[in-house]
Amino acid sequence: MSKISAPKGTRDILPSETAAWQYAERVFADVCGRFGYQEIRIPTFEQTELFQRGVGDTTDVVQKEMYTFEDKGGRSMTLRPEGTAGVVRSYLENGMASWPSPVRLFYNITAFRYEKMQKGRYREFHQFGCEAFGSAGPVVDAEMVSLLDLFFRELGLKETSLRINSIGCPTCRAEYNQKLKEYLKPHLDKLCDTCQTRYDKNPLRIIDCKEPGCRPYVQEAPALLDNLCPDCQAHFNGFCNNLDELGLKYTIDKGIVRGLDYYTRTVFEFVSEHVGTQGTICGGGRYDGLVAEMGGQPTPGIGFALGVERLLMELQQQQATMPDPAGITVYIAALGSGAAAEARRWTLRLRTLGVRAETDLLQRSLKAQLKYAGKLGVRYTVVIGEDEIKTGKIKLKDMRQHCEQEMSFEQAEQLLIEGDE
Ligand code: HAM
Repeated sequence: MSKISAPKGTRDILPSETAAWQYAERVFADVCGRFGYQEIRIPTFEQTELFQRGVGDTTDVVQKEMYTFEDKGGRSMTLRPEGTAGVVRSYLENGMASWPSPVRLFYNITAFRYEKMQKGRYREFHQFGCEAFGSAGPVVDAEMVSLLDLFFRELGLKETSLRINSIGCPTCRAEYNQKLKEYLKPHLDKLCDTCQTRYDKNPLRIIDCKEPGCRPYVQEAPALLDNLCPDCQAHFNGFCNNLDELGLKYTIDKGIVRGLDYYTRTVFEFVSEHVGTQGTICGGGRYDGLVAEMGGQPTPGIGFALGVERLLMELQQQQATMPDPAGITVYIAALGSGAAAEARRWTLRLRTLGVRAETDLLQRSLKAQLKYAGKLGVRYTVVIGEDEIKTGKIKLKDMRQHCEQEMSFEQAEQLLIEGDE
């Protein structure tokens, strides 16, 4: 029979990697907690309409990349391609507008996009993200960047750069779109098919086009940042000032427009040169119109999501120190079948006391048991036989120091509890 392999674009995260994942998850949750963010867990799939309305009908994500299916009740469902739309839905459904403002939420999710597989680009991937509701001024924008900066520093991640831009509000964007269309009009037939449809529906998306044929026109196009209304300009200046005040370094990049439709004003990305062709580790921005768009009262919002696979690849490239998988502290070998039962009982007692302990499950010889313990790389071994059971004394062998010590079961328990902390 032929073997079944994992679907294209998915990957197994094996035990050798999970320690690093758990560490990153812990540090993220811890840093978020210090900034007042509380964890939210949202469903893996939602009604398709949520993403059509939230993320935007003209985006690549909605048009080409969603895993959409009909459920047995005939409803159209979609595996979440990102977290923001689901968090906004939850914000509204759970009446979070009445919670103390700002409402700060963080999440750790899987997301699904039908994309072409590349290094750092998967069809199922993981995102850490934050969303903050209720604060319109640029202070929260800079605070969010400082959260990311602290998170990266605590993980030991260097060499990432912060790029920022503003894509204005509906008023200045409408004026800009006109200007952009006028500029692009003479070149329209040279743009790719997708950009030709974007021209009428959502011209700003053209700025994000990576097609080589479109690049020259995109590079010469007028920038939205040079066409902001006075309010949006003041907001952007405020964001820059707040970043300066916090000592956070950044580059203004007029080309960042982001790939999702809900953004207004502040947009930002953290990029690195290492993650294959997919250098963006993290992206985010403000979405002051999204809550109202989804049926709530007008409520400003801002957030980001970072790709965990890309983050971990980057940490590995930079040789950041990550914890090793936690191993077994003590192996209890048994000599003879009577002793095996006692070994199993004591192993369970040690586990109850919080010690990472293993004993034989395969009725192996003593030699084979100790060979196995050697492969596990345990710190201590104990052999339990008739004598040990009779005298109540065991020899605890320290595999690192190459020495052994005779003691009672209770004394060994004490030592192992301390050694496992
Ligand atoms: P996004 O830029 O689409 O934004 O995704 C955020 C991050 O997720 C990217 O920077 C990248 O690291 C990672 N990512 C995206 N697609 C893939 C993929 N196919 N494989 C691996 N990693 C990927 C959002 O999702 C917004 N929801 C961010 C946000 C939150 N904006 C406001 N709040």
